[in-house]
Amino acid sequence: MAKDLYPTDRPTGGKTGRAAVVRPWWRAGARRGTRSDAETGLEEGVGLARAISLNVVHHEVVAISKTRPATLLGGGAVSALGTTLNALDVDLVVVDGSLTPIQQRNLERAWDRKVIDRTGLILEIFGARARTREGQLQVELAALTYQRSRLVRSWTHLERQRGALGFVGGPGESQLEIDRRLIGERIGKLQRRLAQVRRTRTLHRAARARVPFPVVALVGYTNAGKSTLFNRITQAETFAHDQLFATLDPTMRGLTLKTGRKIILSDTVGFISDLPTDLVEAFSATLEEVAGADLILHVRDISHPESDRQKRDVETILSDLHSVNGDDEEAKFPRALEARNKIDCLEPEIRAEFIRAAAQNPSAVAVSAANGEGVDELLAAIDARLAENQLEVSVDVEISDGANIAWLYRSGTVLERHDDDAAAHLKVRLDPADFERMSLRNGITIQA
Ligand code: GTP
Repeated sequence: MAKDLYPTDRPTGGKTGRAAVVRPWWRAGARRGTRSDAETGLEEGVGLARAISLNVVHHEVVAISKTRPATLLGGGAVSALGTTLNALDVDLVVVDGSLTPIQQRNLERAWDRKVIDRTGLILEIFGARARTREGQLQVELAALTYQRSRLVRSWTHLERQRGALGFVGGPGESQLEIDRRLIGERIGKLQRRLAQVRRTRTLHRAARARVPFPVVALVGYTNAGKSTLFNRITQAETFAHDQLFATLDPTMRGLTLKTGRKIILSDTVGFISDLPTDLVEAFSATLEEVAGADLILHVRDISHPESDRQKRDVETILSDLHSVNGDDEEAKFPRALEARNKIDCLEPEIRAEFIRAAAQNPSAVAVSAANGEGVDELLAAIDARLAENQLEVSVDVEISDGANIAWLYRSGTVLERHDDDAAAHLKVRLDPADFERMSLRNGITIQA
């Protein structure tokens, strides 16, 4: 997927990369809300636009007393905004709400520039950040289906940019018509490719199952500091098994904790609130790693004024994903540990209070990914959490089966061992994840 949403070779118009974000606020009617909610929403919309490197030069809440089917916004607002957009040389307008295809087209005509809505914006974000092949295909599929449903004229743009989703194109494209047949064919092709990628992924999973280390997945709201934390934790480490993961996914790194426990840390795409339901599946594909994780590390920006709401959003999406993945065995869903990040941004007294509160909560650690404070405690908490659920099992292995015996010593703690002529009998303490992996290995017999 394209990272560069403003390629310089765009054929027409829109060369400035300057964007405006407009948040509709319903003053009356069924969707009525408070102005302050709309303002908070606007702030988030601006954050999302910046997350894909748009240069946001104007943002505003636009009050709506009655929805206009043709333009959503009232005539006065459309014309006033038009003047502002011209004055600021804006070439892309993000309407942080949902637009019908007709409203989108009419606003583009009225303002003579590209307009996208929230779904379009989020698709761009997913497109830029999907990290696995399946994630990328899934997002492209969602984008095409979205395009097909509205007369967004970006097909040739999409082709030319090789993977750009194309909503954030120049207004010149508005002359181009969608070729529905082409899109239909492309969707068919993508679906076939996805099926192929899923088959390959099953092989990768099997390869991962042979690596006996628990996977810890970093999740969290966009901008919470996941990548910063991931880099801080992993930068000092090189790990013999990294190569294996590099071929599967560049965002997975292995590391050895102080106790000697080896884990795989996996970075994921950021969460976004109010995820349109038709995007949940695309998002779920970008979060594929989370489904298979042994522990979820929820990274939060606790210096953000909306931190608690973000936490609820993330938890809601996680439980939605859980059902999307069709995996409803509660026990399989890994529990989360919270990294309360960015404590360096807090006033000293508030910060001390936060550290005290986190110290009393076994599920939370206060950290600063930026300066490293609390990171050792976080790693210790991960270790303790993984150790908590260890199981003790007695197993038998053929005495000549050196590979399996070595695997048991590497993966768990061997508590007892006695050998006879035919077999080694071992009592081992293991993480649940390793217990599952052990069950997948041939040659280890578990005693009842
Ligand atoms: P997405 O990729 O959007 O999901 O973001 P992310 O969660 O990976 O966040 P990222 O690590 O990119 O950090 C976002 C911003 O927060 C960057 O500007 C970081 O420098 C900053 N940041 C991350 N951790 C800290 C922290 O502990 N303190 C401070 N002050 N800033 C931080």
